Amino acid sequence: MKVTVLGAAGGIGQALSLLLKTQLPAGSELSLYDVAPVVPGVAVDLSHIPTAVKVEGFGADALGEALTGADIVLIPAGMPRKPGMDRSDLFAVNAGIIKTLAEGIVKNCPKALTGIITNPVNGTVPIVAEVFKAAGTYDKNRVFGITTLDVIRSEAFVAELKGLNVSDVKVPVIGGHSGTTILPLLSQVEGATFTEEEVAALTPRIQNAGTEVVNAKAGGGSATLSMGAAAARFCMSLVKGIQGEDVVDYAYVEGNGEDAQYFAQPVRLGPNGVVELLPYGELSAFEQKAKEDMLATLKSDIQEGVDFINA
Ligand SMILES: NC(=O)c1ccc[n+]([C@@H]2O[C@H](COP(=O)([O-])OP(=O)(O)OC[C@H]3O[C@@H](n4cnc5c(N)ncnc54)[C@H](O)[C@@H]3O)[C@@H](O)[C@H]2O)c1
Repeated sequence: MKVTVLGAAGGIGQALSLLLKTQLPAGSELSLYDVAPVVPGVAVDLSHIPTAVKVEGFGADALGEALTGADIVLIPAGMPRKPGMDRSDLFAVNAGIIKTLAEGIVKNCPKALTGIITNPVNGTVPIVAEVFKAAGTYDKNRVFGITTLDVIRSEAFVAELKGLNVSDVKVPVIGGHSGTTILPLLSQVEGATFTEEEVAALTPRIQNAGTEVVNAKAGGGSATLSMGAAAARFCMSLVKGIQGEDVVDYAYVEGNGEDAQYFAQPVRLGPNGVVELLPYGELSAFEQKAKEDMLATLKSDIQEGVDFINA
């Protein structure tokens, strides 16, 4: 198993790489790429952790080498938010970075499962898909927007609010990955019920949890440690799928277009990525309205990504 992290020297990249060094199956390779000159040092640092995962660092001119043979590529490269910014403010900078990296995947590992973390995820996933389509290498089952941070935040907040053991809490989160497009399905949480007031307070807290971190870091960036944990958890779902285990996880994927062309939903994973799109079940009246209200925003975020490549 070879996993390549693009943007590996950043806040998310380093946390994610640390977790993968300790969690990937023995015999795996972890390939770290970044344009920041510190990346070989990050690789040397991690290589001193005694696990059977080989780590190598690749600098700005070695994207091809970093990607060759990769089974999974995770992309946290790009600018994070500062206070006062929303994720769409990052588009102008990050769209070009994502395009370049997607072109590298086309050339060097077109069959890799690709997980995109770079914001705005609602638009960067379509950019990657359009680059792959133009090259004739697109397989919608192999491209994922990583929305796991919305899931783990929901688990943490629900466990805290309801006094539950957090490892027993499962919260489905569907839609997209910004503001109101993030839709936690609190009506489907097993072992907990919520009053209308609780739903009305918890839903926006989950949707704005990223801003909570951005403001608390006061100009020092956005979520990196929790995002590293989220991306490692999603990567391990991909790994288990590749190894033939039956795994279901949530991700932002190109589905059947019922709600929007790309939509975060439960998917069954296998050796080639998505094996099956699963239904997200029945929504409460509150969730149904929230879904209908956010679709226009999500669709316009998607169109921005598509147009960046095609317009
Ligand atoms: N999906 C999510 O839930 C989620 C959560 C938090 C943050 N993010 C996003 O993840 C991204 C990274 O955040 P961070 O806090 O790690 O930022 P960071 O600034 O700490 O790290 C970004 C890294 O990307 C590298 N980089 C820039 N251009 C590159 C290129 N062309 N090729 C390779 N590497 C490149 C930088 O050198 C840097 O090391 C941001 O866009 C942020 O908004 C996503």
